[in-house]
Amino acid sequence: MITIALSKGRIFADTLPLLNAAGITPLDDPEKSRKLILDTNRAEVKLVIVRASDVPTYVQYGAADLGVAGKDVLLESDCMGLYQPLDLQIGTCKMMVAVREGFDYVAVVKSGARLNVATKYVHIAREHFAKKGMHVNLIKLYGSMELAPLTGLADAIVDVVSTGNTLKANKLMAVEEIMPISSRLIVNRAALKLKRDQIQPMIEAFERAIQ
Ligand code: ATP
Ligand code: PRP
Repeated sequence: MITIALSKGRIFADTLPLLNAAGITPLDDPEKSRKLILDTNRAEVKLVIVRASDVPTYVQYGAADLGVAGKDVLLESDCMGLYQPLDLQIGTCKMMVAVREGFDYVAVVKSGARLNVATKYVHIAREHFAKKGMHVNLIKLYGSMELAPLTGLADAIVDVVSTGNTLKANKLMAVEEIMPISSRLIVNRAALKLKRDQIQPMIEAFERAIQ
């Protein structure tokens, strides 16, 4: 049996063509079904539907053999030793620092004032500002980061930006790119050894599909 951990939404949608290329078709649509374990056209392959931030945990403990997780999620997770054979080039976006329109970020940075920064990505933000030698107060949020500068909770946010529409709709602007983000295939190392005959062809099919 091979189990693949995926999150609903964009990761599932973007992974579907890669699964199809590997000859795997889910028998249910997670957007419509309440099932959390989905059968596929291949009796020996199952999909488990978990929160995006839980994918590395399922793979690390071997509850799933493979998974698809954003680089952001992987950098924030405490999971160690996951094998990451492929950048799947899906879920592409950028990790950015953003502030209210009109906020003079460059001047504030220059002045050395301590910034309040709200984010779901505290590890990434801490490392970014430490590298710049900036002192910041990090405020952990779980979503809707864009609200923080508008309500006075924070001066800046660290969040993923794709089209920029969410920032624009909330009168925010990106002022710094931290890193490009995309989703990775992650594999449990023990599973790779024990089930190499099944897992290796899948990795190769995914690789061919992204080329
Ligand atoms: P959780 O449900 O665990 O809080 P989430 O809401 O961030 O996670 P998704 O919104 O499904 O989960 O995002 C999954 C992944 O897709 C993210 O980890 C990130 O790598 C990428 N992503 C997030 N937002 C965008 C976007 N606007 N455009 C493209 N990719 C994105
Ligand atoms: C993400 C992110 C931004 C938005 C950016 O949210 O947190 O809010 O996408 O995308 P854009 O630049 O194309 O507007 P998402 O859509 O995942 O919603 P969520 O906050 O519920 O995770």
